[in-house]
Amino acid sequence: MSLQYSISPDGEQFPLPTSEEYKKEFKRLKNLVAKQKKTNREIVIVMGVGFVGVAMAAVIADTVNKNGQPSKFVIGMQRPSVRSYWKIPILNRGISPVTSEDRELAPMIERCVKDKKTLTVTFTYDALSLADVVVVDIQCDYHKEALGNILNGHADMTPLEQSLAIMAEHISPDALVLIETTVAPGTTEQIAYPIMKKVFQRRGIKTDPLLAHSFERVMPGKDYVTSVRDFWRVCSGISKKAQKRVVRFLNDVLNTKDYPLTVLDKPVESETAKIVENSFRATILAFLDEWSLFAERNGVDLMKVIQAIKARPTHDNIIFPGPGIGGYCLPKDGGLGIWAYKHIHGFEDDIFKITPMAVNINDTRALHVGQLVRDALRNMNRPIAAADILLLGASYREDVGDTRYSGSELIVRRLTEMGAEMRVHDPYLAHWWEKARYLSEKGIQP
Ligand SMILES: NC(=O)c1ccc[n+]([C@@H]2O[C@H](COP(=O)([O-])OP(=O)(O)OC[C@H]3O[C@@H](n4cnc5c(N)ncnc54)[C@H](O)[C@@H]3O)[C@@H](O)[C@H]2O)c1
Repeated sequence: MSLQYSISPDGEQFPLPTSEEYKKEFKRLKNLVAKQKKTNREIVIVMGVGFVGVAMAAVIADTVNKNGQPSKFVIGMQRPSVRSYWKIPILNRGISPVTSEDRELAPMIERCVKDKKTLTVTFTYDALSLADVVVVDIQCDYHKEALGNILNGHADMTPLEQSLAIMAEHISPDALVLIETTVAPGTTEQIAYPIMKKVFQRRGIKTDPLLAHSFERVMPGKDYVTSVRDFWRVCSGISKKAQKRVVRFLNDVLNTKDYPLTVLDKPVESETAKIVENSFRATILAFLDEWSLFAERNGVDLMKVIQAIKARPTHDNIIFPGPGIGGYCLPKDGGLGIWAYKHIHGFEDDIFKITPMAVNINDTRALHVGQLVRDALRNMNRPIAAADILLLGASYREDVGDTRYSGSELIVRRLTEMGAEMRVHDPYLAHWWEKARYLSEKGIQP
């Protein structure tokens, strides 16, 4: 079989591991863990070193005890897929796979990998057997069938379900499994627990899996690390024992002295908190869409209006949506909640009105940019099909290279359809995955 490669954003090729390399890799990890155990360090596996997992892994690896000594050894784990494998060798060189304005993340990763030697990254699931704690930071997507209709879609539970089964196959019965992934409310108790319990039973384990949930509020960008470590957290456990373990773990790794934990009684509550929190934000963004049209058509400067309103303390969180609302979370999280109501909890009625409407408005807001550009070019007597257009910024927000569901993608697609020649610049990106996808959809070689 020919070798497959994973290519990093700056073009370096990494061959995917062969079957012989798995044994060697597990041996490497066992040796490392044996040394770490001698210093009483807790072994923590972070599953999924994406935007969230990479920062969480670094924060945990940087944790020290009362005497200032490192108290955790972290093994980041990443699927060796063509798209993502490159993150493993890059991280093992002490380099952050994410580019952002944050001043802490890159040195923290370098320090933990090279100096403190409290962070390594692997591709083998065998590592799970070495864990005291497993932190789950893999994705749980919501697939939409059509633009602007979130109700026509479904949660993609497969990666999460598969990884839960794999974890249950490998972990020790005493390992705490902390799900940080944003999930459809009900997932920990009604999906994760049964999957893991069945595997435990097959393995002859009589105890329950120690499952907990605590969602991330990370904001990749300038405050990447502090938004993980120095920020308020909500958590819950599936049992009293799991709750005690998760509270202890989060108190160890996060600055809960200044940002106290909120402990909820059951996982469905913390899962719902995340979905409501992001649906609230999606709703206040969507609300201003119609007022921005009103302002545009009546010569009203909406930015000034918003500043005037913000002066009132009860309204100071009013936010202007900008030309497009994207990112990984806001476009999907409401969908996970709506999907859960029907498919996890079994209700058939449609109780959701505002949440889907907000996501639909946000998902299509960037299309309006196409109209504005067309009108501006018309005023310049330039047909759009003869225009060269430069778009500055491909990420969904400032200070980070994250292009998932960014408004810019929709703008590029729309203007390209209208015939414009598009160029895009973003200082945080060496490679725009969505562009490659767009070209391949059109049958064009990227
Ligand atoms: N990005 C954010 O700003 C943000 C903020 C708060 C919460 N969240 C939530 O955190 C979760 C993760 O988001 P993200 O942005 O880090 O996603 P991501 O896609 O960047 O990272 C997920 C990682 O998990 C890996 N993965 C998938 N299946 C795996 C498996 N079986 N074993 C090991 N690795 C596996 C993927 O390859 C990927 O690297 C999501 O639920 C998201 O909604 C994200």
